[in-house]
Amino acid sequence: MNSSVPGAAKTSTSNSGESAPFTSGTAPGGRPVIGHVLPLMRDPAAFLASLPAFGDLVEIRLGTTRAHVPCHPELLWQVMVDDRLFDKGGKYYDRVREMAGNGVATCMHDDHRRQRRLLQPAFHASRLIRYAQIMEQEIAGLTGAWSRAQSIDAYPVLYGMALRTLTRTLFSSQVDADTVEGIRRSFDTVFGGFFQQMFLPRFTRRLPLPGNLRHQRALRHLRAAVPQVIADSREADDDGNLLAALLAAHADQDVPVDDAQLHDHVVTVLAAGSETVAATLTWSLYLLASDPQAQERLQAEADAALAGPVATWDNLPDLPFTRRVLTETIRLYPPGWMFSRVTTSDTELAGKRLPAGTTIVITPFPVHRNPEIFRDAGSFDPDRWLPERAAPLPRGAFSGFGAGARKCIGDDFGMGECAMALATIARRWDVRAQPGADTRPVPLAGFYRPRRLSLQLTRRGPAEGLA
Ligand code: HEM
Repeated sequence: MNSSVPGAAKTSTSNSGESAPFTSGTAPGGRPVIGHVLPLMRDPAAFLASLPAFGDLVEIRLGTTRAHVPCHPELLWQVMVDDRLFDKGGKYYDRVREMAGNGVATCMHDDHRRQRRLLQPAFHASRLIRYAQIMEQEIAGLTGAWSRAQSIDAYPVLYGMALRTLTRTLFSSQVDADTVEGIRRSFDTVFGGFFQQMFLPRFTRRLPLPGNLRHQRALRHLRAAVPQVIADSREADDDGNLLAALLAAHADQDVPVDDAQLHDHVVTVLAAGSETVAATLTWSLYLLASDPQAQERLQAEADAALAGPVATWDNLPDLPFTRRVLTETIRLYPPGWMFSRVTTSDTELAGKRLPAGTTIVITPFPVHRNPEIFRDAGSFDPDRWLPERAAPLPRGAFSGFGAGARKCIGDDFGMGECAMALATIARRWDVRAQPGADTRPVPLAGFYRPRRLSLQLTRRGPAEGLA
């Protein structure tokens, strides 16, 4: 899998009990104190995709912390599925816990299965069909307001739609627009520059610097807003929302629930389900704007599948190309681009001894953009996800939703919502990128999204069957 690169320390070792000999190495270019923060900030995809040249498990430095990045799909898979040995922890999750407490996404292995069982019924297929009615309304509300020729600042617009969809499926419609906007701003502060503060020495986080103060204010705002939202939702007394499903699961399993736990559940789902959906949609529209042929295929599929102007949940089986476009988008631009794990006991990976407490970085880039795994890895090719072409891929080749017991609980929710939105847009609009786009990612943000992307939407003519 690797070629030798001068300047990189690399040891070739065979891992006992593993069928393939894996190699380990060290990424060159780490600077004192800041380590590899600069390349991670400037072009994280290129830096992380360059790592397989140095080994299957590659050591990098995040500030002063040494971390190991699995670059081989099999190693990535092992780390993702063995969540007892490679548990959630490290600087990334320490930081998410400040916001989401001990929710399902942040809790340690010993509490995870209990929490996951409580949340799972809220994501059952029968619930998703009900949430889909709200998705439809939000997509119709957004696209219905667009004129014949309209330009949109893609990310904020789609983020607003994704967050409103979540608040409505979670809490029914009782939450007012100001509260939703306050939550959106708090997440924006917490997740923009998310990794920045992690790389700085711990004591600097307590200094009264503007960034620290903004971060603290955003956390305080969330802690104040969420109980209000929960109270409103309880009053709404709607058994179709996500909170109701969660409370019912607590009751069924005879597990009492306190306000702190509810807070953690709610913040977790809101945080995990809004930026990810907005980023996936933004990148997919960008890719389609750059590939007129793919856009035409998507439009043709939407024309054939949709009975009206807005896609429904029932249309999803008839939108296979749309789904492939989304999967390919997440391969190239995974919204969840960097997570951490910590080893809970001494272990060995790729023949390298890792003492308990070692940080592992999980990132899809080294595998998703590796030409030895994905031919022509840099190009947008939705058909690589045709079943016959995807079948030979090794496990761990696609990690856009994670894997194992900690795999994304909202994958069907998110993919369904994105497919409905994309097909609805394709049915009515031609999409082109406006000049001046800056598709470099927001530096060190919690989710991978472009800095600036304005899209020109032009209504398709009546020939396509819609007025
Ligand atoms: C296309 C959109 C999405 C992407 C790309 C995505 C990606 C991911 C990834 C990579 C993980 C694993 C993180 C890790 O292993 O550390 C994850 C976990 C999670 N996601 Fe998503 N997600 C998406 C949509 C959603 C939505 C819509 C929701 C909720 C409505 C959601 C809720 C969660 C939760 C609760 C977890 C933690 C699961 C656990 O630890 O058991 N996600 N997501």
